[in-house]
Amino acid sequence: MTLGFDAAVLNGEGRAGLPAWDLLEDDPGGELREEEWEVAGLGHEPVLRADVVRLLLPTPRPGLRLVDCTTGLAGHSEALLEAAPPDAELLGFERDPVARAEARRRLERFGHRIHLAAEPFSQFEEVLDRTGWTHVDALLADLGVSSLQLDDASRGFSFQADAALDMRMDPTHGEDAASLIERLDENELGRLLREFGEEPAARRIARAIKRSDESPRTTGALRALVHRATGPRGGRRHDPATLTFQALRIAVNAELDELDQLLEALPRRLAPQGRVAVLAYHSLEDRRVKRAFSVWARSCVCPPELPVCRCGGRARARALTRRVITPGEEEIARNPRARSARLRAIEWVGEGQEGGDT
Ligand SMILES: C[S@@+](CC[C@H](N)C(=O)[O-])C[C@H]1O[C@@H](n2cnc3c(N)ncnc32)[C@H](O)[C@@H]1O
Repeated sequence: MTLGFDAAVLNGEGRAGLPAWDLLEDDPGGELREEEWEVAGLGHEPVLRADVVRLLLPTPRPGLRLVDCTTGLAGHSEALLEAAPPDAELLGFERDPVARAEARRRLERFGHRIHLAAEPFSQFEEVLDRTGWTHVDALLADLGVSSLQLDDASRGFSFQADAALDMRMDPTHGEDAASLIERLDENELGRLLREFGEEPAARRIARAIKRSDESPRTTGALRALVHRATGPRGGRRHDPATLTFQALRIAVNAELDELDQLLEALPRRLAPQGRVAVLAYHSLEDRRVKRAFSVWARSCVCPPELPVCRCGGRARARALTRRVITPGEEEIARNPRARSARLRAIEWVGEGQEGGDT
C-alpha cells in the first residue's frame, strides 16, 4: 500500500514495542477528547508566547542560534528575537508560501539575522548544513495548521465553507485530499480515518465515501458523505465530519512522519544546554513528543525485565515541564484555538552527561 505517508504509523506499528514513556509527567487531561481535536492555530497572538520565550531563552547568551520549525506568521519568531541578544540568528521553516511571505515581511526588521526555509522541517539537518550551522541553541515547533490556512476557505481545510478539497500546507507540492481519497480503497481509507482521526465510525464513513457515485472533490461533498454515514449529528457535540477532516489533513501533510523525523534528528543537532519546546494540539502529536522527551530524560535504558541497571546510562536531557503546560482561561477566551495546546520542553544535557528533572 502506498499512501504517501508513514504506513508504519498508519498500521499502528509505530506504537508497538516502544518503551513505556509515562515516566516523566502525567497528562492532566488524559487523552484529548473529540472536541479537543478541533484544529488549533495561531489566532491573533502566538499560543503560550510568554512560556515559550521563558523556556527557550532562560539566560540569553551571545551568538544564539534559534530555529522555528513552524514559522507561520512569525508571532513566536518575533517574540523570540525580541527577547534574544541582538546578535541572535533565527532559522525559520515554513512550507506554506503565503505564510512564508507574510513571515518575511514581519521579520524584515531583523535583516540578515533571519534565514527562511521553504523545506518541511523533516529536512532539518540538510537545511542546517546549508545554513552553515552544526548545532542549535533553542528550537520551537508549534505544530499543525495556522489560522491563515484555516480561515482561507479556498485552502480546503475547513468544512465551514464549500471549497476544493485540497488541504495541502504547501499547495505547490504533493497530493491533495481529493486525490488521496480517490486513490485509496475502502479499507485503506477506513484505516486512515481510524489511525489519524481516531474516528469511531471510520469503516462506515469510508464505505459511504468509496461507494458514492462520485469521489468527493469539495469540502461540502465530503462533509455530506460523512453525514450520510453518521447522521447529521452523529450523537456528537461537534460536527461528525471533524475527525474525518482532521485525519485527512494529517495524512495529506504527512504531519506525524514530519514530527517523527524531526524528533529523530534532534539529538544530533542540539548544542549542550540547547532547549526544545513543542506545542502539540492533539494526542497523536503529543504522545510522540512526550515519549521522545521521556526517553531522552531517562538515565537507564535497560529492558524492564532486568532487576538491576546494567547499562550505566545517563540522561541526555532534563525535563523543563514536569507537567504539560496548557493555556489559561484568559488566553483561551482571547484565542479559542489555543484551547487544545499542550506545551512541553526539555534542555539537552548531552550524550553521557548527568541529567535529571528540575
Ligand atoms: C500553528 S502554525 C504556527 C504559528 C506560528 N507559531 C506563529 O506564531 O505565527 C503552524 C505553521 O507551520 C507550518 N508547518 C506545519 N508543518 C510543517 C512542516 N512539516 N514543515 C514546515 N512548515 C510546517 C504550517 O504551514 C503553519 O504555517
